[in-house]
Amino acid sequence: MEKIEINEKQRREDGAYVFHHPPKFLWEKEDLPLMKWTDFTLYVHVPFCREICTFCTFERKKLEKGALNKFMGSILKEIEITLAKWDFSESKPGALYLGGGTASLLSVSDLTILVNKLRSSFGLLKDAEITLECEPGTKQLSDFRQLKSIGINRVSIGFQAFQNELLRSLNRMHTIEESLKMFNSVKEAGIENIHIDLMFGLPGQTMEDWKFSIQEALKLAPKHFSLYTLIVFKNELLDRSLANGTMKQLPSTEVINEMREWAQIQLTENGYDQYSLTEYCKSGYQCRYVTSNWNGSDYLGFGPAAYSRNGSYLWENHVLHTLYHSSVKADELPYHKMFKMNSTDICKRDLAMGVCLLQIPLDPILTKVGEIDPLIKEHLAELENEGLISMNDRAITLNTASQRFATYIMKRIIGDN
Ligand SMILES: C[S@@+](CC[C@H](N)C(=O)[O-])C[C@H]1O[C@@H](n2cnc3c(N)ncnc32)[C@H](O)[C@@H]1O
Ligand code: SF4
Repeated sequence: MEKIEINEKQRREDGAYVFHHPPKFLWEKEDLPLMKWTDFTLYVHVPFCREICTFCTFERKKLEKGALNKFMGSILKEIEITLAKWDFSESKPGALYLGGGTASLLSVSDLTILVNKLRSSFGLLKDAEITLECEPGTKQLSDFRQLKSIGINRVSIGFQAFQNELLRSLNRMHTIEESLKMFNSVKEAGIENIHIDLMFGLPGQTMEDWKFSIQEALKLAPKHFSLYTLIVFKNELLDRSLANGTMKQLPSTEVINEMREWAQIQLTENGYDQYSLTEYCKSGYQCRYVTSNWNGSDYLGFGPAAYSRNGSYLWENHVLHTLYHSSVKADELPYHKMFKMNSTDICKRDLAMGVCLLQIPLDPILTKVGEIDPLIKEHLAELENEGLISMNDRAITLNTASQRFATYIMKRIIGDN
C-alpha cells in the first residue's frame, strides 16, 4: 500500500459502491421505445422476508398473508405485458436469477409456474444458469429435489455468519444449524453449484469470529462465495441503532481491512478465484447473472423495484407494491422511472460498474461509444498516477491493494468526487 497516497477524506472506505450511474434522482417517468432483446439475463425480485434484518436496505417488506398470491398474479401478467410490448423473436437469455427479498419464500409450485413461464416466454438457453436465492430455514430436501427437476441449478444461501449470537443480533430468523441443514439438503438433492453469502464488519464481530466463519465455510467446499463488507446506510435502522448504543460497535477500519485481506488469502489458497470485489469461485463457476450485470450487458427484471437495462435505457419498476399491482392491472409496464443514457453516461456507467469485476475490457465499451470521453480519460490517468489502476489499450485493471478504494475509484471515474 505504501505507493498509494490519497487524502483520507477522499478515500472513504465505506463499501457503498456506486450501484447506479446516472444517479437515480435524474431518472424520470417517460415512455420506453420499442426494443429488441437478444443476449440478456432475467431477474425476478421477490420483495418479501419473514423478518427484516437490521442491516438490510434492499427493497423488501415483511411477508403478509395473501401477498405471495397477489405477487404471483401480477408477475405473470407483467410477463405477458412485456412480451406484447417488445421484440423477443431472437431472445436467448443465458441466466435467470430469482432474488429478493427472499425468493425461497415462494412455494415450490409457484416457483415451478414462474420458471416454466419464463422459459416458455423468453426461450431460456438449454444450459442457462438458474439461481434461487434462499434464506436458511425456508426450504427442505424434498423441495430442492423438486426444484432441481424444474431446472434450478444454482442455489445461493444467506449464511452471513457462523455464530448464533451474531445472527440473533442482526435479527436473522435462522440458526447456523439451519444454514448447514440447507446446505446439506441442496447438496443431497444433487444441485452442486452452491453459493454462500458471508458478511464481515458486522457489529460486535471480532477477527476470531470472521476467521471461524471462513474456516467453517471452507470445510463445506461450496463452488462460490460472496464476501460482503457490511454497508451501513445513513439514517437507516442500523445506523440509528449504532448511534443510540443498542447495537454493539463496528470493528475498526483496520480490522475490516484485515478481515478482507485474510479471507482473500484463505480463499485463494483453497483454490477459489476472486473475480469481483465480492465474489470468489472455483474454476468455471463464475455467476453469469452477476457478471453480466456489471459488464454492461442487458438485463430484464420483473417484480416490484426490479431494474432493467437495454442498451442505453435503464429503468426501475414501481417500488410501492400498490402502484406496481395497479399498473399491471391497467395493462401497463409497471416501471416508474427511466433514463436514456448518452455515450458519456454509458462510458461512465460501464467503467464504474466494471470496477466491480476488477478488470474492465475496453473493447465492448469502445464498440458502444466509439471513444472514451477525454474528461474520463483524464480521470483514469490520474487514478493510474495514484497507483490505483493499471491501463493498457485493452483493459483497465484494479490493483489488489486498491480494492479497498473501489468506491473512491468509481466516484472518480464518474466525476463525483
Ligand atoms: C437479498 S439478500 C439474500 C437472500 C436472503 N434474503 C437472505 O438474507 O438470506 C442478499 C445478500 O445481501 C447481503 N446484504 C444485505 N444487506 C447488506 C448490507 N447492508 N451490507 C452488505 N451486505 C448486505 C447479505 O449477505 C445477503 O445475503
Ligand atoms: S438480508 Fe435477506 S432476509 Fe434479511 S431483510 Fe434483507 S433480504 Fe430480507
